[in-house]
Amino acid sequence: IKKIGVMTSGGDSPGMNAAIRSVVRTCAFYKIECAGIYRGYQGMIEGDFIDLNARSVKGIINKGGTFLKSARSKEFMTKEGRAKAYKALTDANIDALVTIGGDGTFTGALVFNKEYNFPIIGIPGTIDNDIAGTSHTLGYDTTLNTVVEVIDKIRDTASSHNRLFFIEVMGRDVGHIALNAGVGAGAEEILIPEEDLGLERLVDSLNRSKESGKSSSIVVVAEGDKTGKNVFELKDYVNEHMPEYDVRVSVLGHMQRGGSPSCFDRVLASRMGVTAVENLRDGKSNLMVGLINDKIAVTPLQKAIKGQSKINKELIRVSDIMSV
Ligand code: F6P
Repeated sequence: IKKIGVMTSGGDSPGMNAAIRSVVRTCAFYKIECAGIYRGYQGMIEGDFIDLNARSVKGIINKGGTFLKSARSKEFMTKEGRAKAYKALTDANIDALVTIGGDGTFTGALVFNKEYNFPIIGIPGTIDNDIAGTSHTLGYDTTLNTVVEVIDKIRDTASSHNRLFFIEVMGRDVGHIALNAGVGAGAEEILIPEEDLGLERLVDSLNRSKESGKSSSIVVVAEGDKTGKNVFELKDYVNEHMPEYDVRVSVLGHMQRGGSPSCFDRVLASRMGVTAVENLRDGKSNLMVGLINDKIAVTPLQKAIKGQSKINKELIRVSDIMSV
């Protein structure tokens, strides 16, 4: 391997900059050239590259977002688009890739590898934690901390006004953010796609909370939850069935993707970048670097994408007991 291209693709996540830094510096350590690819696969198609050395990535370990920018490229989904990308890479003498992103990024990587036998190692960067082969995706820990901090603030005003809040959090089709941040912030109820409790149970539970002396409540709702109602419809439903409650809704949105990465994410990013480059150097491809039982380990990309979501059922029980 002479020159590694590094890129970020799909939804950004805190820690992506730290991962780029790690890839660039590991390349420098092993005297491998490194190029940054702007705007994910779209920048790859357009040959939008920048040569990077150890000093180009100074002062970014603590920065949210990704300085290489990110995009979801429709053109890369076409054969013609991928042919352009291959030409641009070879023209720039790039002979291997580290792709930082989620399942869409890895799906694209696998197709590209199949067509051009191009060596690729993936680093899971998404706040959703919806990738198998790692207990933590990059950015997930930071997002949990952000969400907990915000829910704490909402609780202040909720309890001052004796209100019930529905708080929608991100996570796409999985409930990791909702479940973990919900337990961490002491939510009374947590609605996640993996476990549909039904609306009657929700009303029962809120009634029980009231009877047990609680005057305000926080319900964390994963954006992908399966109640069939969005947070605003949930508000209407509760208003109808429990008119005594003063209900408000807060949709946290993209603030969950921003901010300086936590120490955990910075360390994880640093470790993952080293392993990604070392695997390419060893002639490996189509692997994703992950954290399994606190150790860095690699998993076939195929398995990482197709793997089952790994919701921690114990947390559901803990949450139920805590909201007694
Ligand atoms: O995958 C990360 C994520 O933030 C999801 O949690 C969310 O559903 C989605 O991306 C939002 O995408 P966009 O930034 O395109 O609105």
